[in-house]
Amino acid sequence: EEEYRSPWNSSNVPQQVFHSVKMWNAVNKFHVPYKRRRQKFFKSRDELQREVEERVALRTVRAGDGPFSGDDWDAFLPKKDLRELLGPMKRCAVVMSSGSMRDSSLGSQIDEHDAVIRFNAAPTKGFSADVGNKTTLRLINSQLMTVEAKFLSNPLYHTGVLIVWDPAPYSRDLYAWYKKPDFNFFPKYKEYRKAHPEQPFYILSPSVQWDLWDVIQENSETDIQPNPPSSGMLGITVMMSLCEEITIYEFLPSRRRSDLCYYFKGHINKQCTIGHYHPLTFEKMLIKRLNRGHNCDIHDFGKVSLCGYSRPTS
Ligand code: C5P
Repeated sequence: EEEYRSPWNSSNVPQQVFHSVKMWNAVNKFHVPYKRRRQKFFKSRDELQREVEERVALRTVRAGDGPFSGDDWDAFLPKKDLRELLGPMKRCAVVMSSGSMRDSSLGSQIDEHDAVIRFNAAPTKGFSADVGNKTTLRLINSQLMTVEAKFLSNPLYHTGVLIVWDPAPYSRDLYAWYKKPDFNFFPKYKEYRKAHPEQPFYILSPSVQWDLWDVIQENSETDIQPNPPSSGMLGITVMMSLCEEITIYEFLPSRRRSDLCYYFKGHINKQCTIGHYHPLTFEKMLIKRLNRGHNCDIHDFGKVSLCGYSRPTS
């Protein structure tokens, strides 16, 4: 009961989250150094905003980066920078896949944004009244690419710009990652590029996930899971670096919060919202501190407002 009113602050972390942190620290799959820095906790919103801007840069893999060289990578990796491709964008929406998107009627409000990012297999068809129709970007994880049998042919993936990310070693070493990706999506990436040469498809650099992770850890009061941030959190950072203003839907859940995992599926699991593998609760606490909107917008609409890296030229 208490959890459903969780204000996402450090005094309200569910016990279950501490169990997950402990478990994943014993595994430490990505070789995150055990000694962690923690900063002054009472940083203002603007200090925290500056820190994210300075430390988390949007980088994608470019032809010629370390092992990504040779004719095939030259041909398949996009030549244009993401920012160059999409141009400066003003108002952007981040639509989480959360169960609380269901029956939200937020669709038309979401579509009014200049750009919309969605995640993994989250559909619009059949759900547009709640989640909108527009898909400008879709951030997917490498696991989906390797396990989804219809990844090449499913029209869901044919709209907008695709970006894929894969959990990589903390070292950010491109060679180590290339040799042993968490899910080997590289062959599928090339196949997809061959089948859909016109669709822009980027690979997120491993530095993004771990630069962001460092900021989350250093601004949390306790140890967090030593695993990469969730797709949703990575997508927030992507939009912060591309847009002036960002509206995030149902990352900090509204009064519609329940244990329903996704708006488009029936399965029930509260860890979808508080995290198990991903440091999701700590991501949400950071986003709460960056929010420029009203708490009632969180409660009524699951809505958070952030400033992007680029300021309006006024
Ligand atoms: O599970 P998946 O990564 O595809 O979901 C997209 C994102 O939506 C997650 O990475 C997470 O940030 C967010 N999410 C959430 N609460 C849920 C389900 C998803 O915050 N119940």
